[in-house]
Amino acid sequence: MTDNTDEFFSRKLDDSRQSVLIDLLKAQVDITFFHERWMYTTDWWRNATNVLDVGCGTGYYAHKLSSFSTHKHIVGVDLQEGLIAEARKHHAIESESLKLEFKVGDYESVERNSNDVIIARLLLQHLADVSLFLNWAANSLQKNGKMIIVEPIDNEAYFFPPFDFYWEFLRRFREAEIEAKGDRDIQDQLEVLLRRHSFTIEENRKTVVPSIGPVKESMFKAISLVPELKVVPLSEDEEIRYHQELTDWYHNQDSYGHLTLRTIIASKI
Ligand SMILES: C[S@@+](CC[C@H](N)C(=O)[O-])C[C@H]1O[C@@H](n2cnc3c(N)ncnc32)[C@H](O)[C@@H]1O
Repeated sequence: MTDNTDEFFSRKLDDSRQSVLIDLLKAQVDITFFHERWMYTTDWWRNATNVLDVGCGTGYYAHKLSSFSTHKHIVGVDLQEGLIAEARKHHAIESESLKLEFKVGDYESVERNSNDVIIARLLLQHLADVSLFLNWAANSLQKNGKMIIVEPIDNEAYFFPPFDFYWEFLRRFREAEIEAKGDRDIQDQLEVLLRRHSFTIEENRKTVVPSIGPVKESMFKAISLVPELKVVPLSEDEEIRYHQELTDWYHNQDSYGHLTLRTIIASKI
């Protein structure tokens, strides 16, 4: 794990920072799951037994799946010990028809190679090498197994406040990211990469999701962690201005735009 985002996710966060992430991931799943339920009414999902949720965070998405799941063994894996502790505490299930368990570690540490479905939600953007991941995923899936990929489409997001300063910050953040680790906007390459790794694409949908309600407060708190990534060093003045403008803006909004997600279902040939 080489980049700043991964370092951020992989080091142990203190309790208050961790609770920000826990709240944010929950709030995001609450608004996005509604738009993803269709996948879990398909025959291939109904017939699947072994499911792996890679980068499962707090396990809240896997938990949402439990109401669509019988005779399944779902394993969630994540680098973050604290998030997995949270997942185990609230979402582990062991019943006759459903086992939901969580493991700490890099996806490569998962040994099960007979998965019917791999879920990779909001994960690829954090990986230094997407090809390595797809190679691993192709080996970990059964023939005809499915991989669900959900990724934000960055340049179609209307997620952030309408301040010049904020967009300037994002522009610098993105430039610094590209300089540090190459262009990570993999949207255009994703289909090509998937084909190269023995997948066919069954669905490729865009969904525009409103960013409202509970996401507002947790997103604001999470954005305040961004300077910790240290990708863009901010001066003291900039930091004060940035926080003040954001705080005022967020406290006066009911809604702050939309996030565009791409959902791909790829099948292993
Ligand atoms: C934005 S969160 C998405 C969480 C969850 N999938 C969801 O949709 O709410 C990305 C997660 O991927 C995890 N992650 C990043 N790189 C990973 C890796 N190499 N192996 C396992 N987990 C990883 C991070 O720790 C983080 O919890």
